[in-house]
Amino acid sequence: MTLASAPGKAILLGEHAVVYGRPAIAIPVWEVAATAEVLDDPGAPPGAIWLEAPAIELQGDLASLDPAHPLPRIVRETLYAIGVEHPAALRLRVTSTIPIASGLGSGAAVSVAIARALSQHLGVPLDPSQVSALAYAVERIHHGTPSGIDNTVVAFGRPVYFCRGEPPAPFQVGAALCLLLGDTGVAVSTSVAVGGVRERRRLNPGTYEARFDAIGTIVNEGRDCIEAGRPAELGTLMSRNHALLQEIGVSSPALDSLVQAALEAGAWGAKLSGAGLGGTMLALVPPERQEAVCQALLRAGAVHTIATQVGA
Ligand code: PMV
Repeated sequence: MTLASAPGKAILLGEHAVVYGRPAIAIPVWEVAATAEVLDDPGAPPGAIWLEAPAIELQGDLASLDPAHPLPRIVRETLYAIGVEHPAALRLRVTSTIPIASGLGSGAAVSVAIARALSQHLGVPLDPSQVSALAYAVERIHHGTPSGIDNTVVAFGRPVYFCRGEPPAPFQVGAALCLLLGDTGVAVSTSVAVGGVRERRRLNPGTYEARFDAIGTIVNEGRDCIEAGRPAELGTLMSRNHALLQEIGVSSPALDSLVQAALEAGAWGAKLSGAGLGGTMLALVPPERQEAVCQALLRAGAVHTIATQVGA
């Protein structure tokens, strides 16, 4: 039996602008994860792969499942990539504690966990960049123009400074960052949010390019703050990033309420994280304010919160 897990993710700075070539910073969120388990199935005919994902009510033989669905798709992509198209019979079970469609990278994490478990089980383990490329191929089917940040941070499992088309750049974390995620409970479609931005940018290219530039500058200043251990300044940059995300039309009243609640309860900064229009809010908090901010988020309507940390 082979087990592999992949974390959720949050975008600290730079979503949406990253689709248009600006940098972004993302972190893995290990408090939630997708897990894939692969078992030999000696009773089944050779080549049969039984796939089950109870959370999305998917189960069946690979040959009978919709080939365009992300789960069968990542299985096929992985087998092709490792050059094992007809393995001995297998059973593959996927579970996840990452809320779906909430900006936490659930789709990428499921793909990464499957690619990793399957390739390891079949004796051809893939490295993070190979796993990331496979997960990206699947993301493209459903999101059209993904930047690649989700599959990258989830596959590498460490904070990344990311520019589209480039390998992820690691960076130092000068002082631990204490973060809180608040889920609005509103499911979002990344392709709808990204498509909306694309359309508004088409109508108003100059304004949107200027906003993306401003976000890119914030990301680079943010990286300096992270490396130098200046969390309060980083928080201010996160809030400025949120204001720009509001301007490009991807916030929502529920997200704005969580941002406001976090700031009033003492967060250094807060913003939406991911595609927006719902999904998740991310706050950077002084450690001694963590409990107060958490309670404030729940009072302001968060359906649940996740506390996570970056750095020592
Ligand atoms: O799918 P989400 O919610 O994790 O958003 C991904 C981040 C975007 O910048 C909005 C899209 C992308 O492909 O980078």
